[in-house]
Amino acid sequence: MGEKQVLVTGACGEIGQALVQELSKRGAYRIVTSDLAPLPDSIKDLVVEHVQGDLVFKVKVFYDYDFDVIFHLAASLSSKAEIATEEAHRINVEGTMQLLMLAAYRSEKYGKAVKFIFPSSIAAYGMPNLEAKKKAGRVREEEWDSPHTMYGCNKLYCEKLGMYYSRFHGQKHLDDNPPVMMDFRALRFPGLISAFTVPSSGTSDYGPEMLHAAAQDQAYACFVRPDTIISFMAMPDAIKSMMMLMDAPRESLTTNVYNVAAFAITAEEFRQRALKAFPGAQITFEPNPRRQGIVDSWPEDVDDSRARKDWGWTPDYDMDHFFDNYFLPEIKRRYGK
Ligand code: SER
Repeated sequence: MGEKQVLVTGACGEIGQALVQELSKRGAYRIVTSDLAPLPDSIKDLVVEHVQGDLVFKVKVFYDYDFDVIFHLAASLSSKAEIATEEAHRINVEGTMQLLMLAAYRSEKYGKAVKFIFPSSIAAYGMPNLEAKKKAGRVREEEWDSPHTMYGCNKLYCEKLGMYYSRFHGQKHLDDNPPVMMDFRALRFPGLISAFTVPSSGTSDYGPEMLHAAAQDQAYACFVRPDTIISFMAMPDAIKSMMMLMDAPRESLTTNVYNVAAFAITAEEFRQRALKAFPGAQITFEPNPRRQGIVDSWPEDVDDSRARKDWGWTPDYDMDHFFDNYFLPEIKRRYGK
């Protein structure tokens, strides 16, 4: 079989860089990317074409491309989106809408379902208070879908738009001869941690920031309380889940949106792990009320049994395996420890 053509938007971000590397490693993909920024050295030679600029305006460039899969990663993350709400809406919703229209158009016109892989987030959930959060434990996809943030609202709405374009667009499914619809598949990711890149403008950033700071002998003031808990995942598992969801036969999917989980961890547990690996680490807690509020509204953990059942999802990294065999060895090498 020939090469598949894929588009990766937001390619310069943390997920984008890791995803492009994985697609390139797999081979058989013609990788086209887009981002506001030029491509970093880590992926620049793996990509056949990069379209730099604002996706909302650049999308028309892609109407002539025959994409098999679109990974739409470009987004304004939760902390930034809360400050610049209108801009976040434009990037997160209008950008997604433009690409969904492209995928729908191509799927229906050429009779080939374009796969649209969309990273949603635990931010799509909204726990009303800490008591409810504790009581709820691992939440299922259809529970607590009342986000408290602009970013979460954007993600949840885009999930709905994706379902609309892949199932109901123009109500053509009611015709005798309905056209082929696009194929929308979303993952609700927990906080992600990479040993190779550092996050910015998200709210789960305190975990990776603390660890990267400790490895570089830099003092770190954590912006949430020690008892703050949400789920996290190693970047290689995030990439694995995207690949698995992309590869899953459509008939095995019972929904368009799947939770994926790995391990729930508190900010204090992050600190303990950092201290054990880097005994001189200086980590203090200086909670920022707004960012604390955001993380408190996210669930402690998510129930990913639907992904496990439908497409065989299981993470490679639990908490110990993550620290001992991925994050710490890689980060020590990176910072020359
Ligand atoms: N990690 C993201 C953020 O903190 C949530 O998806 O914004």
